[in-house]
Amino acid sequence: MAKVKVLFVCLGNICRSPLAEGIFRQQVAERGLSNSFEIDSCGTAAYHIGNHPDQRSVANAAKNGVHYDHFARQLSASDFDDFDYILPMDDSNMRNSISIAPVGFKAEVMKMRYFDSSEKNSDVPDPYYGGEDGFQNVFEILDRSVSSFLDYLIEKHRIN
Ligand code: 4NP
Repeated sequence: MAKVKVLFVCLGNICRSPLAEGIFRQQVAERGLSNSFEIDSCGTAAYHIGNHPDQRSVANAAKNGVHYDHFARQLSASDFDDFDYILPMDDSNMRNSISIAPVGFKAEVMKMRYFDSSEKNSDVPDPYYGGEDGFQNVFEILDRSVSSFLDYLIEKHRIN
């Protein structure tokens, strides 16, 4: 069966979306489903292209048992035909993503917290200018949201 291709999107691709990618990748691996998915993340902005994730985010994730790395890249128009699902972290990144989408694109674009049963459809807050609490809050939001997103994909695509 074709792999399900998932792309997480934030602004800088150094805090929220690489963390979403890392948590999702780990949950997929724990469920023995790594061969069924292709997983990536990117940013709508170009500020941090080529950079590793923010060390505060990596350190907080490690405390929660999630280990990941990534090189930041910017969202491009071709992503809308290369991926099946594109998950922006907030309204602003949703708007900026859609603004570069090609006509008739393939991907389903859904806000990350559409899958969060508490505060459904709200934004994943940007932790960049805040303290440690903000990173833990983002971790917990993403842990819940990507878990129910994975349940949704498993059922929809009959993955086993
Ligand atoms: P992210 O966080 O979008 O979750 O990666 C940010 C990272 C960098 C900046 C803003 C948000 N920045 O302004 O450089």
